[in-house]
Amino acid sequence: MEQTAVIKTYDRMAAAYDLVFSPIFQPGRQRIIDKMNCKPGDRILEVGVGTGVSLSCYPVTTRITGIDVSPKMLERAQRRVRKQQLNHVDLRIMDAQQLEFADASFDKVTAMYVASVVPDPRQMVAEMKRVCRPGGDLFIVNHFSHSHSMIRWLEKVVAVITPLIGFTSDFPLDRFLSDAKISHFDLEPVNLFGYWSMIHARNE
Ligand SMILES: C[S@@+](CC[C@H](N)C(=O)[O-])C[C@H]1O[C@@H](n2cnc3c(N)ncnc32)[C@H](O)[C@@H]1O
Repeated sequence: MEQTAVIKTYDRMAAAYDLVFSPIFQPGRQRIIDKMNCKPGDRILEVGVGTGVSLSCYPVTTRITGIDVSPKMLERAQRRVRKQQLNHVDLRIMDAQQLEFADASFDKVTAMYVASVVPDPRQMVAEMKRVCRPGGDLFIVNHFSHSHSMIRWLEKVVAVITPLIGFTSDFPLDRFLSDAKISHFDLEPVNLFGYWSMIHARNE
């Protein structure tokens, strides 16, 4: 999807997003934050933070920056931050493919359910690596194309309605890893039936 189409889709979905996607995706979000093993003072960037459903899961001793391109999604995240008094969270409108942060600004960088949404996932990961300090951690959770040929075929069919659902269902893991130049990583199935995967890689 083009960037303008992504913004339009998520602006349109913002009001219903939490109802539909909050419970389904929550185990994966929580698993990433558990795996982060957050230390007091950790600087954490979440790209494509959406309505900010993950934000209350981070320890208040960390410093969280959340960015998103959809003003309506981010508006909801802002509301959540105010309501829950998440004073350790800073939110900004920004493109994950062109981050406005200096190199090595963060200890941990994560993208939850964003890789199959951005027009250029390779560029998004390149930017995540750039702003993460060397030796820091990258965490990505996403759905990748299924290994079963019948389900994979179905995912290719569903991919036709990408602009409606806001992500592409035809998203092979091997291609993503090779495009993003991620070679050493842990992979863990998450969420219902392990249909999504969490990738953890050290920023080498
Ligand atoms: C499926 S939602 C995931 C939201 C959130 N991470 C979650 O766990 O629910 C994808 C989010 O990525 C955002 N997004 C898409 N392209 C983006 C980009 N280039 N830069 C930043 N955010 C982007 C969308 O606006 C949307 O909020």
